[in-house]
Amino acid sequence: MGRLTRRALLACGLIGLPALAAGGGFAAAFAGARTGTLGRVAFTRPLAVPPLAESRLDGAGRRVFDLVAEAGETDFLPGGPTVTWGVNGGYLGPTLRAARGERVLINVRNDLGEPTSLHWHGMHLPAAMDGGPHQEIPPGRSWAPAWTVDQRAATLWYHPHPHGRTARHVYRGLAGLFIVDDPGSEPEGLPHRYGVDDIPVIVQDKNFDRNNQLDEDSPALSDVGVLGETIVVNGTVAPYLRVTTERVRLRLLNASNARVYRFGFADDRPFRLIATDGGLLPAPHETTRIQLSPGERAEIVVEAVPGERAVLRSYPPRIGTNFWDERFSGGDDAFDVLELRGGSDLEPAGVLPAVLAPAPAVDLAEPAAERAFQLTGREINGKLMDMGRIDFASAVDTTEVWEVVNIDGTYHNFHVHDVQFQVLSVDGQKPPPELSGWKDTVFLPPYRKVRIALHFTDHTDPDTPYMYHCHVLYHEDQGMMGQFTVVEPGQEPGPAEMPAHGA
Ligand code: C2O
Ligand code: CU
Ligand code: CU
Repeated sequence: MGRLTRRALLACGLIGLPALAAGGGFAAAFAGARTGTLGRVAFTRPLAVPPLAESRLDGAGRRVFDLVAEAGETDFLPGGPTVTWGVNGGYLGPTLRAARGERVLINVRNDLGEPTSLHWHGMHLPAAMDGGPHQEIPPGRSWAPAWTVDQRAATLWYHPHPHGRTARHVYRGLAGLFIVDDPGSEPEGLPHRYGVDDIPVIVQDKNFDRNNQLDEDSPALSDVGVLGETIVVNGTVAPYLRVTTERVRLRLLNASNARVYRFGFADDRPFRLIATDGGLLPAPHETTRIQLSPGERAEIVVEAVPGERAVLRSYPPRIGTNFWDERFSGGDDAFDVLELRGGSDLEPAGVLPAVLAPAPAVDLAEPAAERAFQLTGREINGKLMDMGRIDFASAVDTTEVWEVVNIDGTYHNFHVHDVQFQVLSVDGQKPPPELSGWKDTVFLPPYRKVRIALHFTDHTDPDTPYMYHCHVLYHEDQGMMGQFTVVEPGQEPGPAEMPAHGA
C-alpha cells in the first residue's frame, strides 16, 4: 500500500524533515500520513462479541477463571489468516465478569514463547495481584492472582504489561474486558443484557502487509508509535451489528496502542454518555462526540429506529499538536467504525434514568501530599522507568492531589494503577462532563495541566509497587512510567522486587 515506515526511511537515510524535503519526499510523506475510511467501509462482517468467560466457584467460595495466553490465527481479511495472539483463542480474550464483594481467582497460563503478564486495568487490588511488570509469567508457567472485587460497577479491561514489550503484546491481540457489577447500585432502565442490548466495542487499529500479516512498524515520523489504517472492532474488520432493541448500550474501549478516537455518528445523532473508566456518571450527558485516548473507556446509550442504519465513526481527534505533528500522530484521520442495523421490529425501551450515581467527591480537607508530574519526551519528572526504583510511597487511607502537566509538543495520557481518581480541574477550569466521573486514565494534549485527587485504601505493600504511566504504549515501553507503593502510615518503601519468575 506504499506506506512509508520509519524503518524504510531509516534504511534510505531519509529520517528527519530536512532530508525528506531535500529528497523531495516531504510532500509524499505528508500526504501519505493522513488516512481514513469515511464512507468507504462496506460493513460486510457481523460484529464478533467476545464470549463471557466461564467461571466456577471453588471450595473457598472464590469465582475461578482459567485463562491461557496463546498464539493463534485470525481471519481478518479475505485472502488468508493472520498470525495473532489471544487469550483462550486466537485474538483478544473472553469478557470476565464479577460482582462487587466476590472473591476472584484467575489462573493465567502463558503458552507464548516469551514472558508476558496480565494486568487488570482499572481494578482496585493488592499490588502483587496487579499483573504489572513485576508479575511477569515465564513461558510455560502460570500465575494465579486472587482478590476481592470491591469497587463500583465499571467497564475495566485486561492486557499484558511486560516491561518494554507491552505494545507488541497488545497489538498482536492480547486484551479483553473485565466488567464489574455492583448489584443494587445500577439504576433501573439501563440496557444490561450482554450481547443483546449491552455490547462491548473494543476498538483497535492495525496495519496488514501483503500477506495479511500484522505490520508492527511505526509509520514514518510518528511520535506515538504504530498507527493502523484498518480499524477492527472486537477483532472484526468492517463490522455491522444487528440491533434488536430500541436502545443499545455500547461499552467503548480504546485498546489501540497509540491512536486517539473521537467517536460520533455519521448523522450526528446525539447519544447519552453514561459511564467512563471507573463507572457511571452522576447523570447521562447528551452529546454528539466522545474522545478516547488509549486505555480509556466510555459507555454510551444510543437510540435505534426500525430498519435504519447508523454508522459509528471516529472523527479527527483533538490532539492539540502543531500542524506537522497533527498529521503524523493521527490528528487528521477519520474512520467508519461500526454499523448499527436496526431490525424491522425493535423491542421497546423504557425510561432512561435521569440520575445514575453519586458524583465523585474525594475528601480534600487534608491532602496528605501534593505531587507534581511533568511529562516530556519519554520521561516523567526527568526520569525513565527503572524497575528497581520506587518513586514514592503513599500512605493508606489518605488523599493526595497530583498535578500532571504535559510540557511536550506531542500528546500523552496518564494512567494510575489501583485507584480510580477524581479530576479536580483541567487547565484551572472545572472538568467537562466527560471528566466528571471516576477515571483511571486522562488525556493530555500538549501543555495541558490536570489536577486529580486520589484516595488510597485497603491494600498496603512496601515492597511491591503500582505503576503510573503514559498509556501510549510506545512511550510506556520506552520508559514513560514510574512506580509507587501504598504503605501503612510511617512505613518506608522497600526495594522494588525484580520480576518474580515463579508461581
Ligand atoms: Cu492499561 Cu499500566 O495499564
Ligand atoms: Cu492499568
Ligand atoms: Cu506518552
